[in-house]
Amino acid sequence: MIRILKNKTLLLGITGSIAAFKAAGLASQLTQAGAAVDVVMTREATQFVGPLTFESLTHRHVVTDVMALLPDSTIGHVAMAKRAHIFVIAPATAHTIAKIAHGLADDAVSATALDTRAPLVIAPAMETGMWENAVTQENVAKLVARGAVVVEPGIGRLASGASGKGRMADVDDIVDTIRAVLGRGGDLANRKIVVTAGGTQEPIDPVRVIANHSSGKMGFALAEGARDRGARVTLIAGVHSQRVPRGIELVEATSACEMRDAVLREIADADALIMAAAVADFRPAQQAEHKIKKGQAETIALELVRNPDILAKVAERRKKGNKVEDPAISPALAGGARVSGGNGRNLVVIGFAAETNDLLANARAKLEAKNLDLIVANPVPQSFGNDLDQATLIERGGAVTELPPMPKEELAEKILDFVNTLR
Ligand code: CTP
Repeated sequence: MIRILKNKTLLLGITGSIAAFKAAGLASQLTQAGAAVDVVMTREATQFVGPLTFESLTHRHVVTDVMALLPDSTIGHVAMAKRAHIFVIAPATAHTIAKIAHGLADDAVSATALDTRAPLVIAPAMETGMWENAVTQENVAKLVARGAVVVEPGIGRLASGASGKGRMADVDDIVDTIRAVLGRGGDLANRKIVVTAGGTQEPIDPVRVIANHSSGKMGFALAEGARDRGARVTLIAGVHSQRVPRGIELVEATSACEMRDAVLREIADADALIMAAAVADFRPAQQAEHKIKKGQAETIALELVRNPDILAKVAERRKKGNKVEDPAISPALAGGARVSGGNGRNLVVIGFAAETNDLLANARAKLEAKNLDLIVANPVPQSFGNDLDQATLIERGGAVTELPPMPKEELAEKILDFVNTLR
């Protein structure tokens, strides 16, 4: 289940392109994520994929004709247009885009587009020549000017067998766009949230690194969840195995020092920092210029030096900010209070404690030492790469919330709930 899609009615318009077969995957993914998916198709689309496919995937009636009625005798496309939270046309042919741009309504999809007041997302699919044609670009620009969101087509193999721009965007990218559009105006709107994710890598020589097992799942789930609630999200990612989501600004930071620089830069105008990254505490004292050869040695020693503690640096910055930028805050609170990240607003800082033992005691000590608002204590290595996580949330004031095992997406929502209550 994805929170922003749960209990939403999504209207999926399908037009006559070979990419119609991918719309089956889209309908299935959205239904499994908790949405009710209504489908409306043009006659041409039904030549590529039958309505039965979509009825089977969504367990709902599919409309293929402007005159068609639903089982309750309401006019199909009108009823669907009214109840939709969003109208997604995927694939959208050049012909359908042109019709909608000009207000024509002679098939079920274009008639629905004219009638609905739901936000419109289109995922074009066509031959390169059609996409690049000035008239198509003008039509697309018209729709964008009226508020439509376009999921740009990619480059790849087209219906003709040729390769070029015009291939419908990946289903995951379309889902990301739907989530971002539905999330506009959510409870984190007008907030900038910085999230770190993944593990850092510390180079030993040009081919070897010190790394850790972090997959980045938790940080990516937080970034996506924040985007779905309307936030402007900057995701500072180390090494990870996740797909990069749409609607998020990605900053790559491989080593701990790079991540520190990126975090200190990005929090200047942020409202919250969530440090989900697994940052290496040490790095090799020297990075060898050439690959280290084993020679005859049976053992070798690697000298390590301490990496900066990023959250400790943020705490220092907040202390300074308290004195310099916000004289209204009592000096007695300096160093202990939640203070400005540099934009005159409170910066909420959330850390994670990855522990193999003494979970709660170690997490509490980190909450204090790093001057955090909230710490998410979770046992490692169990949580690394796992879809489920069992976490305990400890707040600055001492309140403890022990959570049952849950998917990382759900845990991310619980953590984001705090961003709102803490600010
Ligand atoms: N962290 C950080 N900078 C570091 C190391 C960790 O900002 N150099 C952050 C992590 O992103 C996390 C929190 O600090 O939010 C705690 O990280 P963790 O690895 O659990 O603890 P450490 O601070 O490294 O302490 P220890 O090695 O003693 O467990």
